[in-house]
Amino acid sequence: MDSRCAIVTGSSSGLGLEISKSLLTSGFTVFGGSRTGTELEHENFYDVELDISVPASVDEFYETVREFTAQVHLVVNNAGICEMAPLNETSAEVFEQHLTTNTLGPFLLFQGLEAFLVKHETHIISILSTAAHYGYPNVAAYNASKFGQLGLIESLKKEWKDHRVRFTNLFPGAIDTPLWDKLGTKFSRDKMLRPEDFMAVFDFLVQAPAVIQFPEVTFLHREGYLE
Ligand SMILES: NC(=O)c1ccc[n+]([C@@H]2O[C@H](COP(=O)([O-])OP(=O)(O)OC[C@H]3O[C@@H](n4cnc5c(N)ncnc54)[C@H](OP(=O)(O)O)[C@@H]3O)[C@@H](O)[C@H]2O)c1
Repeated sequence: MDSRCAIVTGSSSGLGLEISKSLLTSGFTVFGGSRTGTELEHENFYDVELDISVPASVDEFYETVREFTAQVHLVVNNAGICEMAPLNETSAEVFEQHLTTNTLGPFLLFQGLEAFLVKHETHIISILSTAAHYGYPNVAAYNASKFGQLGLIESLKKEWKDHRVRFTNLFPGAIDTPLWDKLGTKFSRDKMLRPEDFMAVFDFLVQAPAVIQFPEVTFLHREGYLE
């Protein structure tokens, strides 16, 4: 395979779908992973079944990638879930689902990734959230899982120092994606970034010279935090 290869988790919807389209336009071959799959059709797009919270599913995902390439140049750690409810109305099961998807999922993704890293080249972009370093009310499970994901990445950065790969952690505020359709909250979409706003930042980061690193990029609507 000649072109640069990218993995995008959560490619079936929202940001992952937009990211996949943009990377294809930039000439990447994209391995998109999700449970439900996507309508995206492109000769360089591989729609691969993936449940990021299940070890065997992540193994199978990488087996599929391995059939095409041994090198991954860009990884977009994006798949995630979010539910809103006061702590006392959040079941232990929902809390656990957030941890298995948003924290264990990236752990499994990175475990499988190490064999595909390209020294001095692989760029690992994680779509965290302002909720990875800022507490919001009524999203304790989401907050905990994203704080946890950040801890995982910060440890890995040091562990993988000799691989000389780049980590970029994104901390976006609210973005008007299908994630919010399921939440049915009071928040106005006018105070959220649009997916194209997010993509303006994302594309800039991907296209910037590889000598630059962006350890933490926080960006949100000019109206401020949603709460
Ligand atoms: N929208 C926002 O306001 C906002 C703000 C900050 C950060 N973020 C973060 O951005 C990321 C993308 O969110 P979005 O707004 O694009 O939400 P979205 O439209 O709901 O998309 C979520 C994606 O994650 C995938 N996913 C969920 N569970 C999965 C699992 N177990 N295995 C594999 N894929 C799974 C979904 O695919 P399937 O259901 O097909 O598996 C879907 O493709 C998330 O990590 C979210 O926390 C979003």
